[in-house]
Amino acid sequence: MNFHDSEKMLGILEEEGYSATENPSKADLIIFNTCSIRQKAEQKFYSELGRMRFLKEKNQSVKIIVAGCIAQHEGKNILQKAPFVDFILGPQNIHILNGLLHDCSSKTIFLEDNPSLSTVDFPVKRENRVKAWVMIMYGCNNFCSYCVVPYTRGRERSRPSEHIYSEIVRLAEEGYKEITLLGQNVNSYKSDIDFPELLRGIDRVGGIERIRFVTSHPKDFSDDLIDSIGMLSKVCEHIHLPLQSGSDNILKLMNRRYTYEEYRNKILKLRRKIANIAITTDIIAGFPGETEKDHMLTIRALRELEFDGIYAFKFSARKGTRASRMDAHVSEEIKSKRLREILVVQDKITTLKNKSLEGTIQEILVESPHETEDKQITGRTRTNKIVNIPNVTLEKGRLINVEIVKGMRHSLEGKIIHNESICSHSRM
Ligand code: 5AD
Ligand code: SF4
Repeated sequence: MNFHDSEKMLGILEEEGYSATENPSKADLIIFNTCSIRQKAEQKFYSELGRMRFLKEKNQSVKIIVAGCIAQHEGKNILQKAPFVDFILGPQNIHILNGLLHDCSSKTIFLEDNPSLSTVDFPVKRENRVKAWVMIMYGCNNFCSYCVVPYTRGRERSRPSEHIYSEIVRLAEEGYKEITLLGQNVNSYKSDIDFPELLRGIDRVGGIERIRFVTSHPKDFSDDLIDSIGMLSKVCEHIHLPLQSGSDNILKLMNRRYTYEEYRNKILKLRRKIANIAITTDIIAGFPGETEKDHMLTIRALRELEFDGIYAFKFSARKGTRASRMDAHVSEEIKSKRLREILVVQDKITTLKNKSLEGTIQEILVESPHETEDKQITGRTRTNKIVNIPNVTLEKGRLINVEIVKGMRHSLEGKIIHNESICSHSRM
């Protein structure tokens, strides 16, 4: 989401006559689009920001903007730590970039709640020519006790469906093949229509071959949605459904509003209704109050549910959240140990899952020639697994059938089965 916000900022600035440079010392304007989801991201930002001081000393006319969730959360504290910053811009105030540098003096802070954000159509500058992110809703109402997002991005607001459709039709005309619908909780999308209906509409847009969406909340993951995913040929067989913990006690403290059993039943239903669906999840290690028994329930859940992949994080106390004020914080040492154990268990499962694909035929959307190797292409399966195919050159955006010859921990290796065969988007 943060990355997509940057694409919008680039779009706005391009209309203002700016072009991007990789070299900060050549820039007239430097924007930090920050993330505050965990402490590590925040530390990284402050050390990067510190490096900009000397640029400002050398060239007073360079403008420095801090945008994103740290901007929203920290506000004028940033100016105290780094007085050389010119503007502070929260995630609901991106539109202010339009004209900001002509109209405003320095040291201005824009953090207002902006309910009309969802009706603004931003210009977007996308680097990728094959896959595009499309925002469908802003904000979050869930207030998971560890999470800063409801405070930084505000309440849920859905974009009107006609805005979404017209953006996707335009993207299809420009040659995009894959769309990822973005929202903190896409399942609670609600405008004139709901999320399953939105998916049904997008599935009919000619030229788009694949539809993905992130992120889903288990409590809102409805049967209608499961049926729609099963029926709609362009909706890919991959769901990211954050579990966070396998312990009901911890889920309750996290305010997730489902039990492990309820989560498990959704996974079983998804697997019953959608053949070969890949499921990935997020896990937090060492939430306040997490005992060794709770941790073992998470390990048990990983073994039982056999996710295709996980993103696991140590709990990070975020200022202003309920979890940061809870008792019984887990020590760094134990958090690290539990995280390692989680990753070891999952690595084995992911490797076995990838190995089990050896010999199968998968549809790949070619995303790029390989980053480092000449004559190698990279693409993803509908289940979102990375496949490298050596000794081939093919342009981006092609759909090809590939036989998986090797399954590894982080990726698959494939070979093209018919020379440059092009697939329809049939299920594999
Ligand atoms: N500490 C650790 N992980 C967090 N996440 C969100 N907030 C925190 C936090 N305070 C993780 C959750 C979420 C993912 C995007 O980031 O697992 O699903
Ligand atoms: Fe944060 Fe929970 Fe909202 Fe996700 S659903 S953004 S974890 S509050």
